[in-house]
Amino acid sequence: MTTGKNVHLLPQTDQLRAIHTVIRDRDCAREDFVFYSRRVIRLLLEAGMDLLPFTKKDVTTPVGAVYPGLEFASKLCAVPVIRAGESMEAELREVHPGIRIGKILIQRDKRTKLPHLLYRHLPDDIADRYVLLLEPMLATAGSALAAIDVLLDAGVAEDRIIMINFLSSPEGLRRVADARPRVKIVTSAIEDRLNEHAFMVPGIGDFGDRFFGTT
Ligand code: PRP
Repeated sequence: MTTGKNVHLLPQTDQLRAIHTVIRDRDCAREDFVFYSRRVIRLLLEAGMDLLPFTKKDVTTPVGAVYPGLEFASKLCAVPVIRAGESMEAELREVHPGIRIGKILIQRDKRTKLPHLLYRHLPDDIADRYVLLLEPMLATAGSALAAIDVLLDAGVAEDRIIMINFLSSPEGLRRVADARPRVKIVTSAIEDRLNEHAFMVPGIGDFGDRFFGTT
């Protein structure tokens, strides 16, 4: 599919495909699933932080020369959509140890696939921040759109939301782009389609269950 300007697909390198090959295998052991998916999560987080605003900052190097550099220009926080989104927290703390983290708990009804918001707790000043929305699976996009609505209700500007997403469906990407066109999405793969059970194909199964060992 052609991706919209706010969809940032990681470079589809052979190495990334090899990692996906390990974790998409239904027989992948849990420790391998966690190890290799964390490598992809690291790439996604770095790509997401590339989308943040920076301002100029010069520093003097040890040889006395000026390096015309940059520094991050705004406040940042992260909001995982529980449960699967919490799989991204450990990697995030590796690259950003002091980052503030809110929480949104949304669960899909197993039968209808409709999302239900069960809990939210966000930083008080979230309206002044850029937000990394940690949502690994974008299938129908119901959960993602419900989470985005929670952030908008809290005063976050739409163009300050960067969704960090592992796997996306064409249908889900289109739905987010139509409803919330200024939200940016970073993803590592775009799947072929959704099946009749609203699972992505070829897909990865239930990311949260596989990551947290609850299958
Ligand atoms: C899964 C996944 C996403 C959502 C994606 O959550 O983690 O949050 O479904 O599907 P959608 O785009 O069709 O809404 P689930 O409710 O299974 O909970 P989990 O995070 O505990 O796995």
